[in-house]
Amino acid sequence: MTDATAIHEQTLAVLGAGSPEAISARFAEIRAHFESGAAGLPAGDLGAWTALRNAWLGRASGVLTAIGDNWLKPATPEQKRVVGKALNELKAHVEQTLETLKARAEAAGAGPLSGMDLSLPGVRRTLGTRHPLRQTLDELERIFRSIGFSVVEGPEIETPYYNFEALNIPEHHPARDTMDTFYVSLPKGSPELLLRTHTSPMQIHTMEQQKPPVRIIVPGRVYRRDNPDSTHSFAFHQIEGLAVDTDITFCEFKGTVEYFVREFLGQKTRTRLRPSYFPFTEPSAEVDASCFGCDGAGCRICKQTGWIELFGAGMVDPAVYGFVGYDAKRFSGFAFGMGVERMAMMRYGITDIQLFYQNDVRFLRQFE
Ligand code: FA5
Repeated sequence: MTDATAIHEQTLAVLGAGSPEAISARFAEIRAHFESGAAGLPAGDLGAWTALRNAWLGRASGVLTAIGDNWLKPATPEQKRVVGKALNELKAHVEQTLETLKARAEAAGAGPLSGMDLSLPGVRRTLGTRHPLRQTLDELERIFRSIGFSVVEGPEIETPYYNFEALNIPEHHPARDTMDTFYVSLPKGSPELLLRTHTSPMQIHTMEQQKPPVRIIVPGRVYRRDNPDSTHSFAFHQIEGLAVDTDITFCEFKGTVEYFVREFLGQKTRTRLRPSYFPFTEPSAEVDASCFGCDGAGCRICKQTGWIELFGAGMVDPAVYGFVGYDAKRFSGFAFGMGVERMAMMRYGITDIQLFYQNDVRFLRQFE
């Protein structure tokens, strides 16, 4: 019998296989040779499987390519029909058997990683960092959670009632001038909707939904029709705070504010309350902190005053309780609202608010 490993390297004429029967017999020999190689394949050895596949299907020197070159190409037109058909059948058989063997090899534990060098370094994906605003928000939330406040969030689209009226800011009140905003365009006759100018509407939503005691903070995005400059943006973030209970006094308000400032800016920081005005707090105050740049002596950062303005706050105006059905004689509380960007600027010494929104990695990488 002719050596089956070699017959594909000779032409049919040399092999003396001119008739269809002789051609079929040669294909049977080749096929038997493939079967014996497949049967001897060690289970689970993907390397051996790859070698078998290359030996039979390899484009340059595989057995099937050689049969195409040595048997098919030089064949007479009558032989070509027989050889072509038999070659196609052989190829389909080889491919299907190899597929089955591969599945068996993988199932036996070799897996798709077999043959790979797992000690080579992988593809390194650069990890992002938390945005400085997110880091500041996380820190603010941590401090207030530690003294019993819970975090709630609310809608950025509001009705004028929640953004203004229920906060004791009626139509035509001058306080609305400083809080012009963006309005949602809706079909005529629809209720008016606007982008909230502060997180204070969540004071109203929360008190409508729950009875005292209330101790919440509300982080979120707010909008104003402000022209962008180094300290203003038309979209920015605030954190609102609200505490209402039966016996909350100005002392508790002051103590909470002082605790927060020391936690956020350092234990040596001193706090000052300055009289101010908000329609929904009475009395109202601006909370200042001693300047972190000069510790109160006066410098460029604090414009020589020794103090830095932090946020607005005050005792909840009893008129607000009227809007949410709380008994103003029984309950009292305090509220505050701070700009998160401004707090972050102070903490990190950032002088331009626009840097937060430009996504420049040279800026963001400084807060890893
Ligand atoms: C308010 O928005 C009140 N709702 C705060 C408040 C809440 C007072 C509860 C009393 C009780 P004001 O308009 O001052 O207040 O804004 C609060 C903070 O938002 C400011 O101190 C400032 O830090 C920040 N802020 C205001 N406008 C802008 C702006 N355009 N860009 C960035 N930050 C701003």
